Amino acid sequence: MGHWRLAVLLATLFTLANLQEEEEEDGGWLTSRYIALTGEGPCNVEVKNSTLTYSEFIQKFAFSRPVVIRGITNNSEFQRLCSKRHLLEQHGDQMVRLSTANTYSYQKVDVPFREYVDHLLKPQSMETLGSDTLYFFGDNNFTEWGPLFQKYIAPPYGLPGTSEAYSFGIAGAGTGVPFHWHGPGYSEVIYGRKPFKRWFLYPPDKAPEFHPNKTTLSWALDTYPILSEEDKPIECTIHPGEVLYFPDRWWHATLNLDTSVFISTFLG
Ligand SMILES: *[C@@H]1O[C@H](CO)[C@@H](O)[C@H](O)[C@H]1NC(C)=O
Ligand SMILES: *[C@@H]1O[C@H](CO)[C@@H](O)[C@H](O)[C@H]1NC(C)=O
Ligand SMILES: *[C@@H]1O[C@H](CO)[C@@H](O)[C@H](O)[C@H]1NC(C)=O
Ligand SMILES: *[C@@H]1O[C@H](CO)[C@@H](O)[C@H](O)[C@H]1NC(C)=O
Repeated sequence: MGHWRLAVLLATLFTLANLQEEEEEDGGWLTSRYIALTGEGPCNVEVKNSTLTYSEFIQKFAFSRPVVIRGITNNSEFQRLCSKRHLLEQHGDQMVRLSTANTYSYQKVDVPFREYVDHLLKPQSMETLGSDTLYFFGDNNFTEWGPLFQKYIAPPYGLPGTSEAYSFGIAGAGTGVPFHWHGPGYSEVIYGRKPFKRWFLYPPDKAPEFHPNKTTLSWALDTYPILSEEDKPIECTIHPGEVLYFPDRWWHATLNLDTSVFISTFLG
């Protein structure tokens, strides 16, 4: 074999090894290198670590305000099971139910999971309305996804008299649910190259101004910068290893700063 052939072979092997390494780092979910978008933004939600006790959680947060808790669970095993390769192997041929990303009129569409990942899981375009953007969040078939969810370690602090229900999703860069509210719960980001999910929250008695059919991305870029100080949201960007707790009936909108795999735990 000539020297140049050997050089080409070595270069190819080197590239393959790098690709392999990259897949391990991002779970294979990276779809686009475009990001920046709106950046991480400030965090004015209180951030606690695993020294937060259950009684402090109940007294200070459970019924009154959001909190980010860092390092309270270790979901590295669940994360591994959520790599693109693994999820496609296990669920590629199953149907998943997609919803439009607007506040009120939820249109639902069923597609095979593989088709969603290959064709629909794209960065949000600025021109598209939330009501025309389909994505996979919740509506999970627990017969098919239950065995995976059993590997998820939920945040340990529940609320008295409630039980837990999971909602699992995968969404493209720039997507996110616009403002809405429901019962209390947690949200955790499992994967993404820059695995940030930016949250905007308002208490139940301070409904934000937003157009119900527009995307969170357009709200973040057009409305957010011109809000007066008193109309600014409570906000934070969460990373893997952090969970965000939202109390009952708090308004919230989310923005995925890159492709992200996430799971919410509803306490109902
Ligand atoms: C965890 O939080 C406590 C109380 O807020 C703080 O004193 C401590 O330094 C924190 N530990 C780490 C590792 O950040
Ligand atoms: C999480 O658990 C895995 C084993 O499942 C372990 O290798 C890893 O070090 C743990 N990470 C932390 C931050 O404790
Ligand atoms: C959930 O999945 C099971 C097993 O594939 C299937 O039989 C059932 O019809 C599905 N349920 C719904 C509501 O789609
Ligand atoms: C939002 O979109 C839905 C469905 O396309 C439409 O029926 C509704 O009128 C729109 N709402 C507003 C406020 O534009």
